[in-house]
Amino acid sequence: MPSPTHIHPVFDRLLQRSDKEALLGQRGLVVWMTGLSGSGKSTIAGELERLLHASQVYSIVLDGDNVRTGINSNLGFSEADRTENIRRIAEVARLFVQNGAVVICCFVSPTIALREQARAIIGADDFIEVFIDTPLAECERRDVKGLYAKARAGEVKDFTGISAPFETPTAPAIRIATQGRSEGETANELLNFILPRVTRT
Ligand code: ADX
Repeated sequence: MPSPTHIHPVFDRLLQRSDKEALLGQRGLVVWMTGLSGSGKSTIAGELERLLHASQVYSIVLDGDNVRTGINSNLGFSEADRTENIRRIAEVARLFVQNGAVVICCFVSPTIALREQARAIIGADDFIEVFIDTPLAECERRDVKGLYAKARAGEVKDFTGISAPFETPTAPAIRIATQGRSEGETANELLNFILPRVTRT
């Protein structure tokens, strides 16, 4: 394998981020959604993507379904694997944001350290932390994937909220409470927060 010193970046010959953003008529941004499994991150992300699209904003969604089955299919849920999961995701998000996209990331990212790692890789100016706040009892009641029951039975190890920690974000850019609210309501609340931050005036 060639060592990294043999790599010659050609960034000076590439178009700049500002060129891409001007073409798209928007500002690139990472919308980083954190919350328990089953809290509604991916559902809200899908709706947010549709709403942004309808508002002429180009966005993409990265979530467990398209990342853990693909580039991160070799990773599990140990602390080290979650760190590598988030590191790769943040690097991918950074590439997209440097090309003008709005990147909606939905990952449990259960600890402050993991979220700070993502913020450091992406850059604080391009990173909006969104806490999807659904109480554990509600996520467990919904148990869409049946994983809480399995975690309680000891069939799934290191499960966030049950046998692995979830550290509540202390200062998210926005907190979206989901209990007793519709998908459309929560997605619109988030849209109203994001839209002025990605629209060029
Ligand atoms: S993270 O902790 O590394 O950020 P990520 O968001 O990629 O997690 O994946 C979480 C999803 O994987 C959950 O929504 C759930 O469907 C599934 N999953 C399987 N095992 C676990 C586990 N032990 N802890 C948390 N989520 C798990």
